[in-house]
Amino acid sequence: MNTATGSISATKASSVLDRVLVMEMVRVTEAAAIAASDLIGRGDEKAADAAAVEAMRRAFDELYIDGTVVIGEGERDEAPMLYIGEKVGGAPGKGPKIDIALDPLEGTTITAKAGPNALAVLAAAEKGCLLNAPDTYMDKLAVGPGYPEGIIDIAKSPTENVKAVAEAKGVKPSDIIICVLDRPRHADLIAELRGLGCGVVLIGDGDVAGVIAVTDEDTTIDLYMGQGGAPEGVLAAAALRCVGGQFNGRLVFRNEDEKARARKWGIEDLDRIYKLEDLAKGDCIFAATGVTQGSLLDGVKRKHGIGGARVMTTESVVMRASSGTVRWIRGEHRI
Ligand code: FBP
Repeated sequence: MNTATGSISATKASSVLDRVLVMEMVRVTEAAAIAASDLIGRGDEKAADAAAVEAMRRAFDELYIDGTVVIGEGERDEAPMLYIGEKVGGAPGKGPKIDIALDPLEGTTITAKAGPNALAVLAAAEKGCLLNAPDTYMDKLAVGPGYPEGIIDIAKSPTENVKAVAEAKGVKPSDIIICVLDRPRHADLIAELRGLGCGVVLIGDGDVAGVIAVTDEDTTIDLYMGQGGAPEGVLAAAALRCVGGQFNGRLVFRNEDEKARARKWGIEDLDRIYKLEDLAKGDCIFAATGVTQGSLLDGVKRKHGIGGARVMTTESVVMRASSGTVRWIRGEHRI
């Protein structure tokens, strides 16, 4: 344990997710984002992901936590680092027991192509509070804060959901803007929404940022709809737990193997509709740093000084569910 972690231990508060830890989580996402930024636009998704994973793994060791990865890079035999079940943190057996959902590089393709909205992201919660989501798709429906509870319902049609939100907002269905991942599997959904006259914002990748966009009036996005990764669903749900909004998710299985994976993680009701508290309950922290420029966060920017010195700037957000505090952090890093 180094001096830095020792001082964290000394200031540790009584709650498992203490206040110091909230800020420390940003160091972890910053480290991953900076490492991945070396690979922006280099056309190598795997290298970008590996750089982010390694940096995030090292940064966790600086934290006074007894952490367990519950959503990570894959199962132990698939991922060398940050695999599901891996212990992370510099205080195994001593620090607070924390479950972590992470995606060191949410948007590998975006990063390789220098597109928008790639993030380094994690959520942390007390042991047992984050859903161990299998690596399957999830049908997602999200709306921002301020609406009556139950305004969205994934069991209903997209049209019914749009009409409900439009009525609550006091506008026409054609005024509603919906963010959807641009995928062939969403052709019917997009046609139905455009048939209502809605604006459809198509994103190439990165549905954690897509879901969070519904909480930010500046994006003008009212709803998020469509299928993306289930692990990303848990990460986005953790963010919405902190800033408000509603979320419905339902796992989507393409074959028996995926169903078996879900059962392995203790999921018995394969048709269950998950709401925010089912995905991330209790107190939780959500942290993200922009890798490429995005609607939520600026990407990593770098300046090369004389003699090879580099200065990197990062933008991060960290939120905590119990307080509802959202902090935007700009970092300047001399490498
Ligand atoms: P990666 O970072 O793993 O490339 O994920 C990007 C992403 O767009 C997620 O945000 C989203 O949930 C998922 O991929 C959608 O999966 P697919 O590309 O198979 O449609």
